[in-house]
Amino acid sequence: MASFPFFTFSTNSLILLVLLNLTYLLAAKHSKYASHHNHYHHHHHPLAASNARLHQASNDRLHQAFIALQALKHAIYSDPKNYTTSWVGPSVCSYEGIYCAPALDNPEIQVVAGIDLNHADIAGFLPDELGLLTDLALIHLNSNRFCGILPLTLANLSLLYELDLSNNRFVGPFPTVVLSLPTIGYLDLRFNNFEGPVPPELYQKKLDAIFLNDNRLTNIIPTGVAGSSASVLVFANNNYGGCLPPSIVHFANTLEELVLINTNLTGCLPQEVGFLYKLRVLDVSFNNIVGPIPYSIAGLAHLEQLNLGFNKLSGIVPAGVCMLPDLANFTLSNNFFCEEEGICQNLTSRGIVFDDRRNCLVEKPNQRSKRECNAVLEHPVDCFEHPCECGEAAAFPPTISPMPTSVPLPSPSIAPTPL
Ligand SMILES: *[C@@H]1O[C@H](CO)[C@@H](O)[C@H](O)[C@H]1NC(C)=O
Ligand SMILES: *[C@@H]1O[C@H](CO)[C@@H](O)[C@H](O)[C@H]1NC(C)=O
Ligand SMILES: *[C@@H]1O[C@H](CO)[C@@H](O)[C@H](O)[C@H]1NC(C)=O
Ligand SMILES: *[C@@H]1O[C@H](CO)[C@@H](O)[C@H](O)[C@H]1NC(C)=O
Ligand SMILES: *[C@@H]1O[C@H](CO)[C@@H](O)[C@H](O)[C@H]1NC(C)=O
Repeated sequence: MASFPFFTFSTNSLILLVLLNLTYLLAAKHSKYASHHNHYHHHHHPLAASNARLHQASNDRLHQAFIALQALKHAIYSDPKNYTTSWVGPSVCSYEGIYCAPALDNPEIQVVAGIDLNHADIAGFLPDELGLLTDLALIHLNSNRFCGILPLTLANLSLLYELDLSNNRFVGPFPTVVLSLPTIGYLDLRFNNFEGPVPPELYQKKLDAIFLNDNRLTNIIPTGVAGSSASVLVFANNNYGGCLPPSIVHFANTLEELVLINTNLTGCLPQEVGFLYKLRVLDVSFNNIVGPIPYSIAGLAHLEQLNLGFNKLSGIVPAGVCMLPDLANFTLSNNFFCEEEGICQNLTSRGIVFDDRRNCLVEKPNQRSKRECNAVLEHPVDCFEHPCECGEAAAFPPTISPMPTSVPLPSPSIAPTPL
């Protein structure tokens, strides 16, 4: 399915600097040639002198970091891999999972710029003292057992660029504290228990990728959304419980992947979905979408993956969609389509992976029964009579077919990031 995007850290060159530094430090710290680095210090390598000075004494900011990290250590109930065993004494830069770099505003001093505890399996909560780590550029807590809510003091992290809290046990409403992070560019909250509406302000942040899948979030694309810079939106396995609003068009200038699998999406697909001219992946499978395929989808010149499977779509599969130049995989199984136009009848002849099983296509094998089809097709849906407004589910006549009870397995693009 969806490919993982390559993130462009072009938003802020200062942040880029920190990230580059961190990348270097991450590599160096894990390198088995670490002793060679020490060796350099004894020779008069140009970097050695400044490194020595940097490592010298603690400074006030490292002392603040010491307070914050000790508070975090005390908020940990279980650390089966002993990540925090090394968190003793004031040398926070040598703590496992803690990465230091020269301060942006004063390259002479070292500050804590990154926390990377991915896959540590730690159980605990995030204490208020994390607000003291004002030099943090990245926090990676993927695949731990952190619980509770995010402390409001995180608003203090004015340099934070990447926040990955995926695959933890955070709860409560959408953590609005992330909206006050001025430089946030990558937000990954998937596989937690956040619930309730997603604030429209989220889309005003300069976020490149937004991963919210596998929570209990509602109203995922508020109708009032005015624009966004995101290229990837993954909302699968939440409870949207409404229709896709025409305001999705405001994502057109950047959006390349839209993944809304199993979000209790209702109503018709708006024509505007076809105005997202950069889309490569559109997956709205396992929902309650009714009506026809908007013809505008035939204009998505870069579309590679189109998954409409497990909905209540009906009508004709338009030839224009099947002729899209980059189309590689088109799934429309488990709907109520009654006709495939032109080339759509044999997409394998174009080398496209295609699944049209369990529809109402009289000339194709593995279709629904006549009775099942008639029950739905006798009540054609008029999308103009039920426009999607205010994120509300339009009142559509009930349909007969039961929804699948099994939840689709997370595909690679919605699984937690490996590191
Ligand atoms: C962590 O430390 C405890 C106590 O020293 C030890 O029993 C355990 O084996 C260590 N676990 C790992 C994964 O190193
Ligand atoms: C925010 O950061 C400043 C240092 O820049 C610190 O003095 C202050 O205590 C922090 N506030 C919180 C709530 O952590
Ligand atoms: C789907 O959303 C509707 C509101 O549109 C709600 O009534 C229903 O309970 C939701 N279904 C599930 C399974 O949560
Ligand atoms: C095509 O897409 C479907 C639905 O997303 C997926 O299950 C299948 O693995 C894909 N096939 C290929 C060959 O990419
Ligand atoms: C589809 O096209 C391929 C190659 O052109 C052909 O071998 C196959 O028989 C066709 N299938 C149907 C059902 O027409």
